[in-house]
Amino acid sequence: MELVKQAFESNYIAPLGPMVDAFESEFAAKLGIPYVVALSSGTAAMHLALHCLDIGPGDEVLASTLTFIGSVNPIIYLGAKPVFIDSDLKTWNMDPDLLAEELDDCAARGKLPKAVVPTDLYGQCVDLDRILKVCEPFDVPVVVDSAEALGASYKNRSAGNGARASIYSFNGNKIITTSGGGMLASHDAELINKAKFLSQQAREAVPHYQHTQIGYNYRMSNILAAIGLGQLKVLEERVAAKRRIFAAYKKALGELPGIEFMPESSYGQANRWLTVILINSDQFGADCNAVRLALEENNIEARPVWKPMHMQPVFSECRKRQGSVSEKLFKQGLCLPSGTSMSIKDIEQVVEVVTSCSF
Ligand SMILES: Cc1ncc(COP(=O)(O)O)c(C=O)c1O
Repeated sequence: MELVKQAFESNYIAPLGPMVDAFESEFAAKLGIPYVVALSSGTAAMHLALHCLDIGPGDEVLASTLTFIGSVNPIIYLGAKPVFIDSDLKTWNMDPDLLAEELDDCAARGKLPKAVVPTDLYGQCVDLDRILKVCEPFDVPVVVDSAEALGASYKNRSAGNGARASIYSFNGNKIITTSGGGMLASHDAELINKAKFLSQQAREAVPHYQHTQIGYNYRMSNILAAIGLGQLKVLEERVAAKRRIFAAYKKALGELPGIEFMPESSYGQANRWLTVILINSDQFGADCNAVRLALEENNIEARPVWKPMHMQPVFSECRKRQGSVSEKLFKQGLCLPSGTSMSIKDIEQVVEVVTSCSF
């Protein structure tokens, strides 16, 4: 509130301004990624990242199938085609072995993808070094969708750090929020400068509104950046709270037959943005939909796991590399209420309803 007040008092009620500069520089410092640009959404950040990599009509981009559609829509905006890669069961993220197989096949066909876009699902980082190693011989750039993973780590690096570019979301449901917003980050200054230029209607640096390219109105406003700057200060607290919520659910539900929790990789620390369980209905006595409906009857909202992109009617024509793992996760997965304002009593209430559904 104090920072938003300062933004109003300074009268920068506009895109750009000192809060945007401060938010960007604190974000860059926190993530250890030198160049960033604050934008109106994570989807806009992905759109600009792919645009800056010159992705266009007819190109292919390999993406995680188990993700939110905001990760993939920008591929379509650019006239390119997504190809979906399944998850592995160890991390629920893009399986590097399947990616390697797909890249080999692409090379054999003589048409390499223009980028690979793995998602850091539910706040757990993808095995980025393996993904980079698989892509390196083909010289295919990696753009990590870390929309859900701010505050998570991968081998002591921040989520997304090490890729050609990474994107983050500050949507209202994310670990920190600006009500709506996003960030694009990279070690490549040229890429970020180009994205900044495109995010401001590709306006040339002359006074008379000159345009030689088509751009977008994607910049973050100074007021929202003030919220972001305040939120950034509580990121570590939020991660700790999310992890406490996960631990409380695990303690209460972990021993029930047929319940499994999303695993945590050995290479990093997840931010546990959402606590996600798998329910084996034969062992538990109810499937995840029945549990979700029982929660709903008690005025508690829980959500299914993202429906894989290869199962979406809009992507029915797209190629995929396997899909059975993400289909299983979708069929058996349930995202439990995970808001950081939840009290122990709230968690106990969820636990009680879930437990009451078992045999
Ligand atoms: C994995 C993933 N990618 C992309 C997005 C898009 O971000 P935004 O809503 O800020 O456009 C989201 C969340 O909304 C997401 O969860």
